[in-house]
Amino acid sequence: MKGIRNIVVLTGAGISAESGIATFRGPGGLWEGHRVEDVCTPEALAADAELVHRFYDVRRAALATVVPNAAHDALARLDAEWPGELLIVTQNVDDLHERAAAKRMLHMHGELRSALCAACGSREAWSGDLPPGSACGACGAGALRPDIVFFGEMPYEMERIEAALARCDLFVSIGTSGAVYPAAGFVQTARHYGAETLELNLDPSAGSVFFAESRMGAAGVLVPDWVAEVLGWDGSTFRPGRS
Ligand code: OAD
Repeated sequence: MKGIRNIVVLTGAGISAESGIATFRGPGGLWEGHRVEDVCTPEALAADAELVHRFYDVRRAALATVVPNAAHDALARLDAEWPGELLIVTQNVDDLHERAAAKRMLHMHGELRSALCAACGSREAWSGDLPPGSACGACGAGALRPDIVFFGEMPYEMERIEAALARCDLFVSIGTSGAVYPAAGFVQTARHYGAETLELNLDPSAGSVFFAESRMGAAGVLVPDWVAEVLGWDGSTFRPGRS
């Protein structure tokens, strides 16, 4: 019998959809009028830095117009109350998890409110526009770029994520299409190490078949229900597993 003590939650654009932030792969395959490949690659940055910086400037400014929704709030509650290990891994570059007060979380694809120095690799908190050529606070080079993990670049904190996946008893994926690796492969890694797996999404993701259980619906409804369920498993211990 294996109980559930350690949980890894992966979130994607779907968890922020009800806050009013567009997902990436909506109808038509366009991300707010741009093909993802036109704004989210090192090649795009090299070819047209103005366009790429401006694109993320607009996304950064839009953060001021949105607030966390019931799903972010529920995960923050899970973080505050779950007595076992928890790691919330978000692919999102918005800051809605932390504004909901989640602490045990990380951004694997970077953050809009951060700038990355292409010269020395340091990262610094950023608000407002980030024009190409902005000076790095650490090395002084005019090489700051949006701190976004572009296609072909290595996501952040992969060692920490892999370690958490290897230890977890339950892996939960929320609001992600399963189209982008390595995040899309986390369910298989977690399964490999014996974790239970649950998907909460509006539509079945590309990797839906790998989940032991899938619940379809809006994150703003499914996530609070699931968190209430988890926190109600037992007042003092953890839920006994099925096998
Ligand atoms: P996608 O846009 O690919 O997928 C969003 C998923 O959320 C879809 O499966 C939708 O069905 C689901 N969804 C939409 N509204 C929902 C709601 N209200 N409740 C629950 N689910 C909902 O976004 P991601 O999978 O996050 O990378 O995309 C992965 C990565 O692709 C992003 O992190 C981004 C992009 O390239 C970077 O920016 C580096």
